[in-house]
Amino acid sequence: MLFDPRPKETSSELYGRQEELQHLLTAFKRGEPLILLLGIRRVGKTSLLKAALRESGLPYIYLDLRSIEEGGFTRAAFYAQLSDALSRLSTRYRIADYLRRVRGVKVLGSGVELDWGMKPPLLNQLFTALNNWATDQQTRIIIALDEAQLLRYMTGGKGRLNFRALLAHAYDNLRQLTIVLTGSEVGLLMEFLEAGGMESEFYGRYREEIMLERFSREEAIDYLRAGFREFGIEPEDDSIMDAVEILDGVVGWLALYGYTATRNPDKKLREILQQVITEAKSVAAQELRKLIYTSHNYGLVLRAIAEGVDEWSKIKKRVESWSGKYMSNTALTRLLTRLQNLSIIGKSNGRYFFLDPIMRLAALEL
Ligand SMILES: Nc1ncnc2c1ncn2[C@@H]1O[C@H](COP(=O)(O)OP(=O)(O)O)[C@@H](O)[C@H]1O
Ligand SMILES: [Mg+2]
Repeated sequence: MLFDPRPKETSSELYGRQEELQHLLTAFKRGEPLILLLGIRRVGKTSLLKAALRESGLPYIYLDLRSIEEGGFTRAAFYAQLSDALSRLSTRYRIADYLRRVRGVKVLGSGVELDWGMKPPLLNQLFTALNNWATDQQTRIIIALDEAQLLRYMTGGKGRLNFRALLAHAYDNLRQLTIVLTGSEVGLLMEFLEAGGMESEFYGRYREEIMLERFSREEAIDYLRAGFREFGIEPEDDSIMDAVEILDGVVGWLALYGYTATRNPDKKLREILQQVITEAKSVAAQELRKLIYTSHNYGLVLRAIAEGVDEWSKIKKRVESWSGKYMSNTALTRLLTRLQNLSIIGKSNGRYFFLDPIMRLAALEL
């Protein structure tokens, strides 16, 4: 179902994205060591990734770091997800003997358990074991980390996992492994990979990048029509246009609209759209509030840009007049850079703008 609110799992469920799908599959086949799948939230990264993993027919491990974030970023939460993923792999492939040799890994039947207590399993060894297996089987194995910018919370410090070093080691030495990282917060993912500049393990290393863009206006319109058609509904042109006007080509919002409409067939589409905008805004506002919690100034900057104050010096004036306080140039630059790194705003020709129109509406009400 095109309007299914969950990420898609197969390529047949995807609307469009054929070019990007082929790009990913080719990169898998070529044996690229590192692939980055980038794009704002709700643009369809997880759907494309999962469809590609399935379609490739290759063995893979998929970890959703956002759900580990919900678990509070403990090593326990990370290892729990990893052992689930390994168990899934081991029900399909005879990989147990390889895993069993890794310290801290227990294999019981097809279940794989990671003992993260006394002696944490060595992820380097684990990746090496996967690589050895893939070498013997003459296949490749894909390690997919969804929302990988969150790995920065698990890197460094005592008892933490140094993912950058781990991934760099895999990049250099484990020839049968392909690592796919997705990131909604594009700048932060880059920062994570390249922290330390030339000192970074990833400095100057090639990676294949796929940027998922929003649907064009035509695609968005066609997506809605096709989705409604699955339910035997032929909405008026006006309803479709109104929805695309506001929700733009962000497929996650379009899917929410379509899904809500098909669940409430008695309601007018105009009402549905209002309801979805309210809901979407509150989701977006929640995401923005996390940020504003760290500094009130984010709220002011976002609101200024949302109101169309889009040049550096004008934003500064506006924020200062609202707060009644002087703001230094470096402070404003820092805020704007952060917002860009989070893929909340973009900048072109010296003007700042929201990447997601719903975020802008949410920011107006902050
Ligand atoms: N190509 C697509 N065709 C149809 N629906 C899609 C497509 N891509 C994403 N969706 C839908 O949009 C929503 C958000 O997609 P998701 O893959 O979770 O985005 P992201 O991972 O970028 O945040 C989900 O409901 C998903 O089913
Ligand atoms: Mg996702």
